Amino acid sequence: MLVSAKEMLDKAKAGHYAVGQFNINNLEWTKAILATAQECNSPVILGVSEGAGKYMGGYNVVVGIVNGLIKDQNITVPVALHLDHGSFEHCYKCMDAGFLSVMFDGSHYPIEENVAKTKQLVADASARGVSIEAEVGSIGGEEDGVVGTGEVADPAECKAIADLGIDFLAAGIGNIHGKYPANWAGLSFDTLDEIQKLTGDMPLVLHGGTGIPTEMIQKAISLGVAKINVNTECQLSFAAATRKYIEAGKDLEGKGFDPRKLLAPGVEAIKATVKEKMEIFGSIGKA
Ligand code: 13P
Repeated sequence: MLVSAKEMLDKAKAGHYAVGQFNINNLEWTKAILATAQECNSPVILGVSEGAGKYMGGYNVVVGIVNGLIKDQNITVPVALHLDHGSFEHCYKCMDAGFLSVMFDGSHYPIEENVAKTKQLVADASARGVSIEAEVGSIGGEEDGVVGTGEVADPAECKAIADLGIDFLAAGIGNIHGKYPANWAGLSFDTLDEIQKLTGDMPLVLHGGTGIPTEMIQKAISLGVAKINVNTECQLSFAAATRKYIEAGKDLEGKGFDPRKLLAPGVEAIKATVKEKMEIFGSIGKA
């Protein structure tokens, strides 16, 4: 069933584990992630960036795919469909299409404007039963053409945004989207600790989940992170499996060029990546 992400993340924070947000790009991706969540009896969040929403044909298409799979594939674990790094306008577009969770990324606005826009969205989202994530301190790296430098958030600003009534908070702590550079300074756990002390029970969100060492992930969870976003790692495993299939000439054998066969190794690779992440995050069996 499609649900808001509030209850699953409150439970995760109280239970000291994290729910994975896995970004989707198409039917295959969505089906693979939902099947794995069901197999692992794990709650799951499907992240959709504005670019992925456009690629799939629009937010109504996304909602149709997800709801259809939940029904026809008998998915009974809690599933939240969540706009990832949304603009103010797109948060409304997604809510209108049936998303029950949105992220408003106002991190590039001056803090006063981020506060004002977040406040407005909190009022409208809560009236519709939609959970809302806000961001303080831009997450570095590149996502959908938006490049950030990997700021460390100001804990006082985090508290100001958390107090507006949002459901979970993404705070930059040196994490970045995509691959981490060899000279990456790591996560700022002192900042995370300070943010958690100021924001209390609020579930915290770690973006850029690809390539963070397991010990760092577990330490972040121990300091209040209850949602971890993973996108690039599924893309990398999908691409590697597809390349292997093509390089082995399988697409030229028999009916190997049939998209259902051509995409199958990539789909299996995504399932393995998602399962591995759910194990590390501790969400298996928590549905
Ligand atoms: P990665 O692409 O680094 O896994 O990050 C995903 C993410 O944070 C989506 O918001």
